[in-house]
Amino acid sequence: MLDKKIADLINDQINKELYSGYLYLEFANYCEEQGLDGFANWYEIQAKEERDHAVIMRRYLLDNGYRVTLEAIQKPEATLTCPMDVFKAGAKHERYVTSLINNIYSEAFSLKDFKTMQFLDWFIKEQVEEEKNAEDLVKKMELFGNDSKSLYLLNQELGTRTYVPTPMLKGE
Ligand code: FEO
Repeated sequence: MLDKKIADLINDQINKELYSGYLYLEFANYCEEQGLDGFANWYEIQAKEERDHAVIMRRYLLDNGYRVTLEAIQKPEATLTCPMDVFKAGAKHERYVTSLINNIYSEAFSLKDFKTMQFLDWFIKEQVEEEKNAEDLVKKMELFGNDSKSLYLLNQELGTRTYVPTPMLKGE
């Protein structure tokens, strides 16, 4: 059995991951409105990955005999006035998610919950990638965002992203 504190933290993280997906759909909506369909595609796929994260955590709790409680998902709060706002908000959000995962890991470590530490290893690595991807978008936008031709090409590049379910899903 999992320690209740760890189980509750992971249960809460399920909600946070679903919220992340909701936030990224909001970003996709904004990008679509701006005519940036490639940017929208990138965030739609990001939203799918966030749902995957929630599903993986749900499965971990269920497999460990914990009754999952799904809470209401908060309305996405983001003030977006230009595409750069989207990328900066995305990078900030991923740093926040990293801090949440680190906090759960820290609790698992203090409780000598090696099983949960091993489970979270994947998320620790994933957050390195998530933060890097988000920061890369900010950098690319800084370099190319003010030139319409470059922005067009960046939009095309982001439009090529495809969804790949993570192997951690195990057929969920
Ligand atoms: Fe589930 Fe973007 O971290």
